[in-house]
Amino acid sequence: MTFNNKIDSKLVKEAQYLQDELTRHNFRYHNLDDPEISDAEYDKMMARLVEIERLYPSLSTPNSPTKRVGAAPLESFETANHSIPMLGLDNAFTDADLLDFHNRTLKFLASELESKRDIFSSSKESLNNSLNSQTLYTVEPKLDGVAVEIVYEDGILTRATTRGDGVTGEVITQNVRTIRSVPLKLSKSSNPNPIPKLLEIRGEVIINRQDFENLNKSRLEKQEPLFANPRNAAAGSLRQLDSKITASRPLSIFVYGTGVVDGIRVNSHSQILKILESYGFPINPLVREGLTIEEVLDHYRELEKQRESLLYEIDGMVVKVDNLEFQKALGVKSRSPRWAIAYKFQAIEATTTVEDITVQVGRTGALTPVALLEPVNVGGVTVSRATLHNQDEIDRKDIRVGDTVIVVRAGDVIPKIVKVIESKRSGDEKKFLMPSECPVCKSPVKRVDDEAAIKCINASCSAQLKERIKHFVSKSAFDIDGIGKKFVEQLVDKGVVSSFADLFVFKNDDLSIKRLASMDRMGRKSAENIINALEKSKNITLKRLIYSLGIDHTGESVASLLSEKFKTLDSLILASKEEIEVVEGIGPKIAVSVYDFFHNPDNIVLINNLIDNGVKIVEQNLLSQAVDSKSDSIRNKTFVLTGTLTSMTRSEAKELLEKAGAKVAGSVSSKTDFVVAGDSAGSKLTKAHELGVTVIDEDTFKAMVG
Ligand code: IVH
Repeated sequence: MTFNNKIDSKLVKEAQYLQDELTRHNFRYHNLDDPEISDAEYDKMMARLVEIERLYPSLSTPNSPTKRVGAAPLESFETANHSIPMLGLDNAFTDADLLDFHNRTLKFLASELESKRDIFSSSKESLNNSLNSQTLYTVEPKLDGVAVEIVYEDGILTRATTRGDGVTGEVITQNVRTIRSVPLKLSKSSNPNPIPKLLEIRGEVIINRQDFENLNKSRLEKQEPLFANPRNAAAGSLRQLDSKITASRPLSIFVYGTGVVDGIRVNSHSQILKILESYGFPINPLVREGLTIEEVLDHYRELEKQRESLLYEIDGMVVKVDNLEFQKALGVKSRSPRWAIAYKFQAIEATTTVEDITVQVGRTGALTPVALLEPVNVGGVTVSRATLHNQDEIDRKDIRVGDTVIVVRAGDVIPKIVKVIESKRSGDEKKFLMPSECPVCKSPVKRVDDEAAIKCINASCSAQLKERIKHFVSKSAFDIDGIGKKFVEQLVDKGVVSSFADLFVFKNDDLSIKRLASMDRMGRKSAENIINALEKSKNITLKRLIYSLGIDHTGESVASLLSEKFKTLDSLILASKEEIEVVEGIGPKIAVSVYDFFHNPDNIVLINNLIDNGVKIVEQNLLSQAVDSKSDSIRNKTFVLTGTLTSMTRSEAKELLEKAGAKVAGSVSSKTDFVVAGDSAGSKLTKAHELGVTVIDEDTFKAMVG
């Protein structure tokens, strides 16, 4: 046992072996995303190493992988100066800003080359050549995280600091050690580069979007305050005095530069990145080197497109002059270098104020509080409203009228308030309480069991009716062209319709046309167009009809499940709660609301009115499905292309499918949804028939992809 100072040499070897192996597996898992062993095997090895190190603490070196779990809590953070200040970056917001940077750079370098050529060690000729070729730049995503510096002495991690004010940062070594993708030792194996005496690296600590969501979810469950965004979560996690807390947070890092380096010779930034990668640091895969300014602009557009689909948040692109001699010649200003610039994306987060909170009534009667904001540009879109969901949400975030708030808009997601900036409060802000009556029809409201929502109980409330009709005419429902939101509101306010079935009362006759044409901003022509659109929409699939009815909790996918299962409207109407509930993908809550809907006599009258007014449920054949709802029939489906297509090449067909969200596979299997068979299709077609996979011809395919 441990009382004996001498440790069995076999155990020393085993500990060493486990430390090396666990470091290697850690790297494969966190940096390469390519694990070699299962989590269970990893855990087993780790447990064994922890046990050995517990028994023989002298084997527990500071760089052992067991040290990723955090150390004893600190009283406070020490501070340390950076050997070289950690500078910021100037920002460009437009192509013109970036071109200005480019022209400044060219002019500066040309005149430096002319006047003080002796400061360059390379020949003037070679520098002139590289300036003329203009492939000057390396570009990187601008990661939206927290900048850190990590120092390695003789290949061992000895200190990590925050950026702080750029000159002095806080020492967070214990915390940075817990980040799995940070090497504790520089990797030596198969590395052509020597281990430098001193290496200071700089990089951005980030949290992936999904990890951030999960982190907030678990904080919500534990009633802990939520983080506003992944960057705040990363910053908060790094500033923990107890590194065990940091260890429990899903932090990772991308490295983008160096401070002092002693012992390696390099002449370009891209070369630095490659060497850092060889030491085991994660380098962002979207880095591009040797670009002209035109290519830099192209890459920016590309990154902008990819932005939403990346696993982590980026807020722009960093453009760096690659040649280190050029960097040196360009030099630095007081807070930023002249050799780099950040070309920022449009903000998807902005600060604004809550001018008021109103209450909206939805088609199911649910009352939703909505913040009316001072209009603000968020990612190129002016935002003036944000849903607050319900009273619980308002209370949790403590949002008051008059508050200064941070709003975000991600992709096409509805803007939301993520945080109140409490320090901006003047004391005049007003708390908000949901009303006890419907703001439109003044009927009492009631809280729905175990839901945060409150509802207006009056089924004929005009606000609900308007929303039901808007839903009914929408794209995925009856898809009636020409009936917009404002028009629906007029129809209801003027008492022209009192249910969506009333829409089909309008026929192609003079009376109907006159009636519609008498509405505001309408004429005879537009009235006729609406009547034609109504006529065209009358043939509808069961799935769309179910969706159109606006049943609680019944969106497109539930409607689709119900239509597939019950096939006809009559059998759905006659189904018992249990029969509905057993449909895969439908839970008890949905089953109750579907069942209740069809057992409300008013709804049966409504459905009968639709049918009496000419609505007809039609079979959903493949073609109409494709034209009807392209997205559903193609998205996430697997296609195999075979034979020769006459109107396009196979790669064009592939591109069309991929654009529509489908996968294109090379061979037919039971997972294939469709085989597109062109002329002289061979074995793949036979296989499709054998497996019962749907085969479509070129015309059908064209109709599907539109
Ligand atoms: S280079 C002197 N590269 O942006 C060069 N910075 O506004 C300074 N950042 O504090 C940094 N991604 O936190 C560089 N690929 C990247 C970056 C990056 C994010 C952050 C970094 C820095 C801030 C500068």
